[in-house]
Amino acid sequence: MKNKILVTGGAGYIGTHTCIALHEAGYDIVIYDNLSNSSCAAIKRVSTLIGQPLEFIEGDIRDAETLRQAFVDHQFFGVIHFSGLKAVGESVTKPLLYYNNNVSGTITLLEVMRQYNVKNLIFSSSATVYGDPKFLPIDESSSRSCTNPYGQSKLIVEYILEDLALSDDSWNLIALRYFNPVGAHPSGQIGEDPNDIPNNLMPYISQVAVGKLEKLSIFGNDYPTVDGTGVRDFIHVTDLAQGHVAALNYLQQQVDLQRSNSKRSSSKSSSVGFLPINLGTGKGTSVLELVSAFSSISGQAIPYQFTSRRVGDIASCYASSDKAKNVLGWEAKLSITEMCQDTWRWQSINPTGYD
Ligand code: NAD
Ligand code: UFG
Repeated sequence: MKNKILVTGGAGYIGTHTCIALHEAGYDIVIYDNLSNSSCAAIKRVSTLIGQPLEFIEGDIRDAETLRQAFVDHQFFGVIHFSGLKAVGESVTKPLLYYNNNVSGTITLLEVMRQYNVKNLIFSSSATVYGDPKFLPIDESSSRSCTNPYGQSKLIVEYILEDLALSDDSWNLIALRYFNPVGAHPSGQIGEDPNDIPNNLMPYISQVAVGKLEKLSIFGNDYPTVDGTGVRDFIHVTDLAQGHVAALNYLQQQVDLQRSNSKRSSSKSSSVGFLPINLGTGKGTSVLELVSAFSSISGQAIPYQFTSRRVGDIASCYASSDKAKNVLGWEAKLSITEMCQDTWRWQSINPTGYD
């Protein structure tokens, strides 16, 4: 029997791409989303791409009753937990909303999981938990600190997961720390569809390229980097999606091992506990390098101006991807070229997103 996975936030940008990868890897999926930052159109497109209808529950993770009903109706092996609010600037003006949604929502989800004895979880964490890194590439043992409520909400959930694993060794909890997800499905049918003017670099560039926005502002050209602009570890969203499949396969192997060990001996084998893993490529690309790659791949001019640094930004951030390779057997395959090609395909076919 195929293992069934509850995908919270499965209608969103990373969730939709991961649902396709999970389906291709043989998992059954149930999407749970309140559609606060996504739409039914995205779910329909995923259904079309996989050639079958998707199970979708419209619900909020803070609504314990609706969540419980999902666990009554389905026997889940585990949960991939994408749902959350993610706009750094908005989190500064609406901290209670962010803590309520991202932290309280996760606590409600964990309580319901415990009630139904589903103790396998993959959580969407972020490289933001590393703050301004002391060394590069950033490995998972780097110190953690955050300066905005969004980042704090990710860090607090990590602490909660650590405490939960310490309190009860039957939990298997993986926190995947994403670096900078970009790109779109190669079909051009699903991709990132920001509600408003994009906060992030890649969707901003692609909206300039398609003529929706006039000009990119590059936040600072005086960083100690290759060309003075910020350096990030951009990772293709389909590689990221495969990282979730690898994490889930790993959880499944570990659970199988725990079961067979407990049958063979009276001693319990150890659970995964809390396991943080970076998902990045290990390579840094500057803002100007990305602008130039996108412009030559799309054949569009990307007008830009330099403005002052954005508050809270760091100079450089890229991952050590050794742990993902060693533990999960996963590494990113796609280059900046594919990231730009696929973003451009999505943006040019769907200039107004899913509308
Ligand atoms: P997204 O906004 O596209 O997807 C999140 C989904 O969660 C949306 O469909 C939204 O409607 C849903 N949602 C939000 N609050 C909910 C709630 N209370 N109950 C049910 N559903 C709810 O975002 P994304 O880019 O796909 O990000 C997915 C996860 O990855 C988020 O937790 C985000 O913080 C994290 N992350 C994203 C990035 C990035 O750059 N995209 C980087 C690091 C971490
Ligand atoms: N940038 C610009 N102009 C823009 C947008 C961004 O110059 O209009 C620059 C930024 O200054 C930075 C780089 O592009 O140097 C990347 O910025 P993004 O906003 O795309 O990404 P961040 O690295 O700031 O943050 C993103 C997500 C966070 C997440 C983090 C994980 O927004 O939620 O990656 O590393 F936590």
